[in-house]
Amino acid sequence: METHVPRVNPEENEDPGAAAYGNFINYYTFNPPENRLSLIPETLLENIRLRSVSGERVLMLDVGCNSGDLSVALYKHLLQEEASGCDFPKRKLYLLGFDLDQDLIHRAQNSNPFPQNIQFIPLDITDDAKSQAVLESYLGSFGCPRFHLCTCFAVTMWVHLNHGDATFLSLLSRLASLCEYLLLEAQPWKCYRSAARRLRKLGRSDFDHFKTLEIRGDMAAHAREHLEKQCSMELMQSFGNTTWDRSLLLFRRR
Ligand SMILES: C[S@@+](CC[C@H](N)C(=O)[O-])C[C@H]1O[C@@H](n2cnc3c(N)ncnc32)[C@H](O)[C@@H]1O
Repeated sequence: METHVPRVNPEENEDPGAAAYGNFINYYTFNPPENRLSLIPETLLENIRLRSVSGERVLMLDVGCNSGDLSVALYKHLLQEEASGCDFPKRKLYLLGFDLDQDLIHRAQNSNPFPQNIQFIPLDITDDAKSQAVLESYLGSFGCPRFHLCTCFAVTMWVHLNHGDATFLSLLSRLASLCEYLLLEAQPWKCYRSAARRLRKLGRSDFDHFKTLEIRGDMAAHAREHLEKQCSMELMQSFGNTTWDRSLLLFRRR
């Protein structure tokens, strides 16, 4: 039987490399892409294609892509099944990954194996005006109104901690408005406590903000409730829990 070496979760531990926005430089040493990929079916795009607006191109958006390791691994993962079906050439799957950390984006750009299909750009999702203009322009270049699939892995807590309840909810609404399908990994509340402790150690006043958050407890359930009640999305499937005990939830536009 394979023995797994327990890995330290930088979002839950007193890692001196702690970063206030979750912009860890060595994130994938601790949380390799396989941890999430093993839960995501390679056939995912088959479902998405059924509702594809154009039927030809599939556009993916990865929000808070860090150094791009998971974005690229997911791109390859989803392409495997498509390629084997032979009716979906590689050139028709496009991915845009963005992150607020410019250095991480440089890393992602420098190691991008498919620059014609995958793009990485610096962008802050909480900068509504700029992110809307940039994302609309990307979609417009393909003549698509929305991304077919948006992934948001381990980002919600950082937006919530740094900006509060209203921005947490508006992040979910933004994501829903941007895509047909949303694959969401929301950090559980125990991660908030650890991260806030670390923010305090870094001397960040945002820790005070943490204490006033009213949305707390079962974060996946809160996200689901908002997406279903306010954003016309419905939970389509849960892919189970990651090794860090976080659920991967797939929503679709109703
Ligand atoms: C814990 S990492 C997760 C990285 C990747 N999504 C994954 O799960 O493998 C969180 C990432 O979200 C980014 N991030 C946090 N707030 C953001 C924001 N407002 N806009 C864009 N990216 C953000 C951070 O810079 C960091 O790279």
